[in-house]
Amino acid sequence: MRKKIVAGNWKMNMHDIDVIQYLKELDELSSTIPTDVEVVVFPPAIYLDMVTNLTDYELKSGAQDCSANENGAYTGEISASMLASMDNEEETKRLTYCLVGHSERRQYHNEMNELLASKVNQLLASKLMPVYCCGESKEERESNNQEKVVKSQITKGLFHLPKEKFSNVVIAYEPVWAIGTGLTATSEQAQEMHAYIRSLIEEQYDVETANSTSILYGGSCKPSNAKELFAQPDIDGGLIGGASLKPDSFIEITKAFN
Ligand code: 13P
Repeated sequence: MRKKIVAGNWKMNMHDIDVIQYLKELDELSSTIPTDVEVVVFPPAIYLDMVTNLTDYELKSGAQDCSANENGAYTGEISASMLASMDNEEETKRLTYCLVGHSERRQYHNEMNELLASKVNQLLASKLMPVYCCGESKEERESNNQEKVVKSQITKGLFHLPKEKFSNVVIAYEPVWAIGTGLTATSEQAQEMHAYIRSLIEEQYDVETANSTSILYGGSCKPSNAKELFAQPDIDGGLIGGASLKPDSFIEITKAFN
């Protein structure tokens, strides 16, 4: 069975005092989180240490981005191995993920699929799991090119990986037109794309790999629509932006699986 994941992408929000308060509230609510759901938070990198160490609840964490290079003269960048070295606990490791190719990085930092493939490689070499983001723009959906776009993003960013490595990848489908807009993809639209992504994985690798890959939906996902989205057979959880900034709404989403 594949993992159910509810992940919160904080983007560039919160300061240290907010993080401390957030983690305190999350701890208080943590007994209500279903035990079969993995809860992950992606804070700004400077708060990773806090998020990784300040809860009693076994919260998983991840970075929002990493460098495509191993090390060297890349001012402002953080390497995958630096991220990995922040949490050396073998058995209780919490810092386990990193987002790759969020649409805001594709859009504002011109990140292309080929560069993202290098980030994926760096993360896997450091034993971190990439959460690879894909999704079409409004124009691409309106011209019915959503499958073509997502296929290209996934093929170029991930399908160079051998099967054993691909099994450490999580995919997040986030239609750009649904991010931060309050417009959610309908559960049918989301299911259709998730099933399509799974079929691409099956074609590239095999049915076991396709069936064991977690595919998350992101884009205005919140407590009021998570149930319907998570009820779809190919939706394994969510990557939540705005609704993850308050522990109560975020935790509510973890209860949305049937
Ligand atoms: P919203 O949930 O705010 O639409 O953001 C989704 C997102 O971009 C998560 O990565």
